[in-house]
Amino acid sequence: MNGSTEINAEYRPSLPLGLSWLNEIKRDPLAAASELHRRYGDVATLNILFRRICYFFTPEAARQILVDHHADFVREARLLRIFASFQGDNALTTEGTDWERQRRILAPGFTPKRVAGYTQLMHAAIQDCVADVLPTSPGSSAVVDADGLTTRITMDVILRTLFSSPMTKQDAAQLSIAIRALTRQSMREVYWPFVAPDWLPYPGRTSKLTHRRTIQALIETHINARTASNAVPREEQDVLDMLLSAKDEASGNHQNALSAREIRDNCVLLFAAGFDTASSALCWWMGLIATRPDVVDALRAELADTDFAASGIEQIVRAPYLNATIKEAMRLYPPSAALFTRVAQRDCVIADTTVTKGTLVVIPIWQLHRDARSFPAPLEFRPERFMPNADPIPRSAYMPFGAGPHFCLGQHFALIEMALVAAYLIKHIDFALPPGAKLPDPTVDVALKPKTPLLVQVTRRETPS
Ligand code: HEM
Repeated sequence: MNGSTEINAEYRPSLPLGLSWLNEIKRDPLAAASELHRRYGDVATLNILFRRICYFFTPEAARQILVDHHADFVREARLLRIFASFQGDNALTTEGTDWERQRRILAPGFTPKRVAGYTQLMHAAIQDCVADVLPTSPGSSAVVDADGLTTRITMDVILRTLFSSPMTKQDAAQLSIAIRALTRQSMREVYWPFVAPDWLPYPGRTSKLTHRRTIQALIETHINARTASNAVPREEQDVLDMLLSAKDEASGNHQNALSAREIRDNCVLLFAAGFDTASSALCWWMGLIATRPDVVDALRAELADTDFAASGIEQIVRAPYLNATIKEAMRLYPPSAALFTRVAQRDCVIADTTVTKGTLVVIPIWQLHRDARSFPAPLEFRPERFMPNADPIPRSAYMPFGAGPHFCLGQHFALIEMALVAAYLIKHIDFALPPGAKLPDPTVDVALKPKTPLLVQVTRRETPS
């Protein structure tokens, strides 16, 4: 335990809550957390199946857990083992020195400078997907599933930046089926009381192994093509080139590069982490924008003099209002809204509360982002909150990309990608919700997705602005 806060720390006995709460959390983790907050205030401690679980609902506590006290916490071993059974051993599913080494090796591929080098690949992917999915002739309309469109785009973007290779329609269909099935299965397994080994016959096992193989095989095909003796030398570096040539100087001579298997498993991670979160953010952004013609007008005015040539792209990714609309969409609908947990490795004090070793702490991003103490009129879509001249957002009240040593490796990548997609859509498409429609409720499907299809009426503009 540390310092003087320990003396005054409050020990909160666990509330006698049992399986009914586990069922509530499983059914709707966002509503369950809101109910806990409403009933018990900023710290809710409960006991489920002999497990002490503590929800902290303030930005200060979130910061203490993720940043100031990060060494007192680890990510939940059970969760990591479940994710490893889907993705293998990579920077998301390992801890300790293994994680440090993999994170150090991956990080140079995602610096702002490096990501700036991927923008033309991103733009090409966006253009091709929009041409494939949306009506092409000026004035023509269709009703599209926003999640389907944004998933298609972000999948293609990540595959092109990983492997410099566009996604065929066939790949897209196969991958979507595989990913959806794996996501559903992982959400089931998260709530099982045990981590199922591959050899055990359990519900969903055959489909999981088949779909996992589909994704690994696709990634191995790209890696094998690149490492074949007759591979053509390439000028532009993509993420795979970076992974193949990466050396971890900090770890000395031994194990300083990623093994072939680690390269494959980290590609699986970057693929999985890279598209579903960004697609969730863009899907909700589309839905929100479709309800606000005034915001669309302001965006068109801001982007009027930009194009997708190199200098225009730079202007787009810096456009303040465009970025503010994306940030505000992620405030209302943070893609990683649940499963944001840590386990205390030792007793410590968080927000004047004693957290005993082994306690599972939950950082409820959804509630932090919708707390009126940090965001006045929290349920309103107000991009102005994120404009440079706005009142400062309270520290750690907004953290869609996390904080501390595990903060999102793909943050710059995602922000640039989302700005390019959003700008492209704003310039080429008019959108509205179908008459009488409202935004659907969200559901946690690893990333935050619409519970029912978020349908948007899109019309190709006569002349792109
Ligand atoms: C809107 C898009 C995205 C959001 C909201 C998001 C959110 C997050 C969050 C909250 C974490 C931290 C989890 C924790 O601390 O437990 C995280 C970690 C991570 N993200 Fe993202 N992410 C996004 C896009 C991406 C992209 C595009 C990539 C890669 C191309 C990526 C790669 C990763 C990786 C590798 C980690 C694990 C980092 C570590 O544990 O060291 N993410 N992300």
